[in-house]
Formats: sequence, C-alpha cells, structure tokens
Amino acid sequence: KKLEVLTQRFKEAPKKELKTDQEEWEEHQISLALSARNASEKGDSLSGKTAYELLLDDSIDFISEDILSGQGTVEMKSSLSKDIIQKNERESLPIFPFREELLQAIAAYKVLVVVGETGSGKTTQLPQYLHEAGYTKRGKIGCTQPRRVAAMSVADRVSKEMKVKLGSEVGYSIRFEDCTCEKTVIKYMTDGMLLREFLNEPDLASYSVIIIDEAHERSLHTDILMALVKDLAREREDIKVIVSSATLNAEKFSVYFDDAPVFNIPGRRFPVDLYYTKAPEADYVDAACITVLQIHATQPAGDILVFLTGQDEIEAAVEILNERTRGLGSRLGELIICPIYSTLPSEQQAKIFDPTPPGARKVVLATNIAETSVTIDGVVYVIDPGFCKQKRYDPRAGIESLLVVPISRASAIQRAGRAGRTQPGKCFRLYTKWSYYNEMSDETSPEILRTNLSQVVLSLKSLGIDDLIHFDFLDKPPTDALIRSLEQLYALGALNDRGELTKLGRRMAELPLDPPMSKCLIASEKYGCSEEIMTICAMLSVNNSIFYRPKDKAVMADSAKAAFHRVFGGVGDHLGLLACYCQWMDSGYSTQWCYENFVQVRSMKKARDIRDQLDAMLERVEVVKCSSNDHQQIRKALVAGFFYHVACLQKNGSYRTIKNPISVHIHPSSSLFKSEKLPRWILYHELVFTSDYFVRQVTEIDSSWLLQVAPHYYREKEVEDNKKKKLPLKAQQHQK
Ligand code: CDP
Ligand code: MG
Repeated sequence: KKLEVLTQRFKEAPKKELKTDQEEWEEHQISLALSARNASEKGDSLSGKTAYELLLDDSIDFISEDILSGQGTVEMKSSLSKDIIQKNERESLPIFPFREELLQAIAAYKVLVVVGETGSGKTTQLPQYLHEAGYTKRGKIGCTQPRRVAAMSVADRVSKEMKVKLGSEVGYSIRFEDCTCEKTVIKYMTDGMLLREFLNEPDLASYSVIIIDEAHERSLHTDILMALVKDLAREREDIKVIVSSATLNAEKFSVYFDDAPVFNIPGRRFPVDLYYTKAPEADYVDAACITVLQIHATQPAGDILVFLTGQDEIEAAVEILNERTRGLGSRLGELIICPIYSTLPSEQQAKIFDPTPPGARKVVLATNIAETSVTIDGVVYVIDPGFCKQKRYDPRAGIESLLVVPISRASAIQRAGRAGRTQPGKCFRLYTKWSYYNEMSDETSPEILRTNLSQVVLSLKSLGIDDLIHFDFLDKPPTDALIRSLEQLYALGALNDRGELTKLGRRMAELPLDPPMSKCLIASEKYGCSEEIMTICAMLSVNNSIFYRPKDKAVMADSAKAAFHRVFGGVGDHLGLLACYCQWMDSGYSTQWCYENFVQVRSMKKARDIRDQLDAMLERVEVVKCSSNDHQQIRKALVAGFFYHVACLQKNGSYRTIKNPISVHIHPSSSLFKSEKLPRWILYHELVFTSDYFVRQVTEIDSSWLLQVAPHYYREKEVEDNKKKKLPLKAQQHQK
C-alpha cells in the first residue's frame, strides 16, 4: 500500500509537543498494531510473495541529482575494538598533522577560533594536545558541550584514549551529575554547567583553558558563555580561549572576539550522492523505515544513520524495523538497530559506537545530536527526513513550546556530510529538491532568539551585569523577551525596582532551577514545608513522566494514580506527586512497589537523586529543613513561586489566565481533568501549545492566597471571586 502524499509537505509541518511516557507508550501500541495489520493484509492479498519481495514492493522512488563534493584521500580505516584505542587511530585523525601548528597558534593568541569538519578530532584531541603540552599544570581544561550526551560520551572516549578511569583525570559534569574529582584536569561539561561555575568562580581561576565547543550550535548557554569568556580574556592574562565550530561561517565568531584568528583544519570528506524524493512524504517515520530496509536489501555494506526528531519517533521506528525485519529470514544480513537520544541510559548510548560485525549492518536512529556533536564511524548511508524539534517562545504570553519544524539547509548539509567520512556515501533526503531550495531557511536561528530568558538573566545579574539591553550579545535577544524576564524576576522579588539583584535573588541564583521553582524552595521555609517542596521540585524536574498506563491495564493504572491524589484530598497534581514519592520512600524505595503502582522506576530513582542534591543545595543557601503535612501550607509555598501561573474557571468550563489573559484547558494527563467539580482557581506548572493551550501539572488554590503571597502583583479586583461578579451589570457599574 502506497503512502498518502501531501502536496505541501513543509507548510503542513506537524506540530507536536513533547510527549509523556504514557502517550509515547500508547503510540507504540498503535504503531505496533498498525504494522501488524499491514503485514497481515499484505500476507493475505499477496500470498506467495516472500517477505523479502514484499519489502522491495514497498520502496520509495528517489531521484539522484546533486553531489556533496569531497576531498577524501585516506583509505578506509578498519574499526578497532572500542576499548583498545591505539595511538595510530588518534594519529589518523584530520587534526593530527596540525598538532604543532595548533599549539603554536594557541600559545601566540589568547583567543583562537578553530574550525573543522565534524569528526576531525576537535573535541577529543584538542584537550589532550593541551594537556600533553603542559597547560594542565596551571589549571584545568574545560570543554563545553551544548548536549549532555556529547559531554558524557566524549569524556568516556577520551578517558579510554588516555587509559585512565572516567571521572579521574578525565571527567564530565552535567546538571545533577558530577563525574569529576580533585584529580580531574580535562573536564567536559554542558555549557549550562560552566555558566553555573562562573557564579561561584567569576574569574574561573581553576582553569587554564576554556574550550567553547560546538559554538555553531548557538545554544542559549553557549552564546552567554561566549560573552562572558570574551570579557574574561580581557581581564585574565594567563587564560586561553578556544572557540570551536563545525560550520564554515566562523567569520562571525572571529569578528565578535575582536578579530581573533581562525585556524582551519582541512576536512577529509568523500563525495556524497544526494537523493531526493519525487514527491513529499506524508509520514516520514514510516518512509525512513522503508528506506532503511530498501538500503539494507539493495546496497553494499555500510551502516545507516537516520535523523529523527525525538525519543517518541525513534522508539516508533525501532518497533517498525523490528517488526518488519522479523520475517526476512537469512536472506539478508542482520540489521542491528541502535537508538540514541539524550535520555537514553548511558550503557545503551555506548552501543552505537560498537563496531559492526562482518556481514551485519548497523542502523543508528538518532536525534540531531548525531548532526555534529557525536560521530559514529562506519556510516555510509544517511537518511534525512528534514525535520527537527525546536523550542519557540512567545514572550507576551510567556509560553514556551517545542515544535517539530523543517531543518535549515546548513543542517541538511551537515547531515549529508555524515555519510562521507570514511568512504564515498549516499544521503537519502525524504523531501523534494524544490523543498530544499525553496522551503528551508539558510541557517538555524540561535536559541537566544526563541527562548525564555529568566534564568539566564538572573545568572547575569548575579554576575553583576546590570545593563542587559546594552550587553554584548553575539545576537541580541528580542527586547520584549528581555523585558518580560526582568518583569518576572521583579515579581518574584529577585530584583528590586531599580532592577538590582536582591538578597533573595542572590539565593535563587545559587539553585540550578528555573526562577519560579527556586523561589518556591526558598519560600517553603516560611510555610514550614521545605522537605515537601523539595520532593515536589525533584519530581517535576524528572524529564520523563512518572506514571505509566499500559492499554491493557489502563483501569488499574488510573486507579493507582487516583489513589495518590486522594491522599491530600484530590487538590491536584503537585500533591499527587508528593504522595507518590512518600509512599515509594515508605516502601524502602522498592522496585516491586513501582511495578504494583504503575510508576516508572527509572524516573523515581532520578527524582531521588535530584532530591538529594537539592537537599545539599538548600543547606548552602541556608534554608531551614522543615516538614508539614498541611496541604494548604504546601500549596501556599507553590503559589509563592508560581503565582503568575494562575488561571480562573470560566462559564464554558475552560480557564482564563489573569495577566495578558488567554483561554486555556487542563491537560488530559492532569488528575483534575476529569474532576466532577472543576476548581475555581488553579495554579499550573507549565503552559504548552499544541492544538490549543493546555496547562500541565495543575493544583487547586484559593484566590485569597494570591493577595497574601503576591500583593505586589495582584490587585484585589483581579482575583476577587467570581461569585461577587455575578451581580447584574448595572449594580456592578454602580459599585464602581
Ligand atoms: O569534535 P570533532 O567533530 O572534530 O571530532 P571528535 O568528536 O573529536 O571525534 C574524532 C573521532 O573520535 C571520531 O571520528 C570518532 O571516530 C571518534 N569518537 C568516538 O569513537 N567516540 C566518541 N564518543 C567520540 C569520538
Ligand atoms: Mg566535536
């Protein structure tokens, strides 16, 4: 059965939000059912054909038109066993012939921009060269990465190259996970973590070199770091700054760093044949899977790399591929399916680097983490559906959303380039050539232009940077986004009316959390419930959802979840999370308990870990530990941080936010979604936009608390109870 085709593929780009585990799980079930049905339909109508023949029936037509040119000269190197990384493997990297020149350039200049094709060895080799040249005698080498997975996997790789234990001389640091010790001299870290270190050590005295890696990604924290190290390089005579980037528009970085010299590492890229689809594909996950099988059946040896937008799509593709390769028998070699995305446990992430055994073929299903941050050897075929997940922010409404959008041409070129690292390759683009030239933008816009800036503004303020409007950003964030975050911080009490950091603001900046959450934690002492708020914050900080709901046991799962909510009288999701954690704790952190209660063990363990760290941090910001069972007090503490995330019930059953009012709905995943009597006032953790505005993690509050907790923010009229408003119109006017 041929796929339906949309005529205007990119204009109809699917809008998606991040899914909860449960939704993902349900999607799997659906996709499983669908592929099983497809398989059986085919079997019925086309009986006699082998699975292999069926596979080829299903293939997609591509047209080959372009070639991504290459200058490859080296012969294919054989993959060595992962644990023994030999010296000659390091020496075969494109960066190696430039080792001496690079070290000379670094010695001569304070700031150096290093540009080189992905995979040339910038991330893994530069810190080692500097270490070997003695820079670590004066201090650590810090190397920042926009992605957690990259920080972890690169640190692991380098520790093996240096034959040391991960976490000793070579380590990594990401939020809520520090894998370093006093011995650590090469430290890979997320850009956000170095930003935090700036707060404790504004001159970064313990570092001799800072490498801002993957600068081309232009993540929010990388952009801010560049501004800070630019300043630092002027002050500190003895520090070296290296800005490393994969794309070739390094000119912008060079100009920004007062015309810093650019060191180009010539790439060794082999030509890549580019193929486009004749017509747009309606379902790119399915089309990608078909293409994988098509390659597997018809193309010579070589691994496949598929770019998808997130965990949900990757897991769906894994299911589809597993299902469809089952009937193929021994006619084709084994297809080893390896997913990679940021929340995958690290043992499983490591699997993608294992060499492919002879006769088999590896297919790596990755997010755009594999575009530049992580390099996988042996890839000869790339499948690029042309989409990625991107954050958007509407400062007026204060709404952040994560949407699936078309990638830029720069990304498309990067993706294709991954096919030609070790030999000539092929890239299958699941979009038309016309789309490529007419519907994609040139470059991906920097994150700073499309995100909520509150936390970053708080960090900058606590570094003593007061004039943000004139701050030296590489790209200036929109003024309304800046103003919005200043307003938010003022409302939270982190800034005073002159825009200066308050004592409270200083304490909030110490915590690696969003400002409203930090505020809650600090305020919780006043309401006698810091232990409970800590738990709630930890539970909210876990990426994955806590509860799961298998289709065949939906009723039991729902009743288990409902039981948590009843513990505190069904007032909402925050307290349901608290009850869930407390019961798990009472069970002795039992895994069995998790199974029985339809709770994800892995999420709970992560929450426990985060809670332990919050516990230590609260000591540092001197919050007194106290505990209370009074859910009113707990909710008041929540209001202290989230008072501007409040909405009031309307006659039609929807809710309306208070300032810049918009109409919102309670998300179906909330325990209040189905409640018999909808609460009049609610507080929500987040507001997301998909088909409509939805609020997630919702708790009932009393509007009078708003005036008690945030009298500076709300006027009495804004939060007076609806009951009073039921006066006839005339009487109301009369009252005024
Ligand atoms: O930073 P850049 O893209 O220039 O290259 P790199 O990340 O330093 O990677 C250099 C080489 O190290 C790659 O070609 C991979 O063969 C290898 N590598 C690896 O095997 N495992 C990792 N986690 C990272 C790199
Ligand atoms: Mg790199």
